[in-house]
Amino acid sequence: MNRRKKIKQLLEAHAKKANAKKAPKKKSTYISKADRLKLAAEATLRNESPADIEQIHAVTEQAFLNAPHTEHTEQFIVKALRDAGALTVSLVAEHGARVIGHVAISPVSISDGAANWYGLGPISVLPAYQGKGVGAQLMEAALAAIAAKGAAGCVVLGDPDYYSRFGFRVVDGLVFPGVPAEYFQARAFTGAFAHGEVSYHQAFSAQA
Ligand SMILES: CC(C)(COP(=O)(O)OP(=O)(O)OC[C@H]1O[C@@H](n2cnc3c(N)ncnc32)[C@H](O)[C@@H]1OP(=O)(O)O)[C@@H](O)C(=O)NCCC(=O)NCCS
Repeated sequence: MNRRKKIKQLLEAHAKKANAKKAPKKKSTYISKADRLKLAAEATLRNESPADIEQIHAVTEQAFLNAPHTEHTEQFIVKALRDAGALTVSLVAEHGARVIGHVAISPVSISDGAANWYGLGPISVLPAYQGKGVGAQLMEAALAAIAAKGAAGCVVLGDPDYYSRFGFRVVDGLVFPGVPAEYFQARAFTGAFAHGEVSYHQAFSAQA
């Protein structure tokens, strides 16, 4: 290697080191249990209002940005459900004046003709607020809301570890075609489970 090239490399390495020193340190993402509980306690839940629609769209879009198993259409699904009058439950979680989370519940149909069954989702929490108990609050409140409306039960499609903590479980013979059985779970409010193939509202095929 000639000397000029060697000096150039040394200068580049030095500049890189100096820049690294100048770069601001990344903020720690660690949040203590006490702070998590504080944020969860500060979040308030309420039904959506027309003024929330844009924020719900943004929260849903951002929540799913880096999520696995998504086609990034969840924000369109929420809108299509609303437009079709099929948002049985639409709750927002607010922190200050900011919408930080949202959950939707809509009716599903089941091939055995069982009535009053619903599907929970999409559920979204802004990435910066995830893991602080907001999602759990939305889940509990949304399930309580449909139970109060006389729902027979609710299904969910998603991470089995997450949903099982809210009383959902895989039910033999209650299926959503095309997904592995462990990703489709149900919770009955009346004791009896429906059986058959479950179809979500046609809004779930919304692409824009
Ligand atoms: C899924 C989601 C709504 C959960 O909201 P959240 O506010 O982060 O959840 P919480 O803080 O209430 O979490 C409750 C518990 O579930 C755990 N959890 C969160 N997401 C999980 C997941 N995908 N799988 C398994 N466990 C999960 C948390 O670690 C927490 O456990 P802990 O109480 O033992 O610490 C949120 O993470 C999100 O918006 N994710 C992206 C969108 C998405 O995947 N939605 C679900 C599919 S419809």
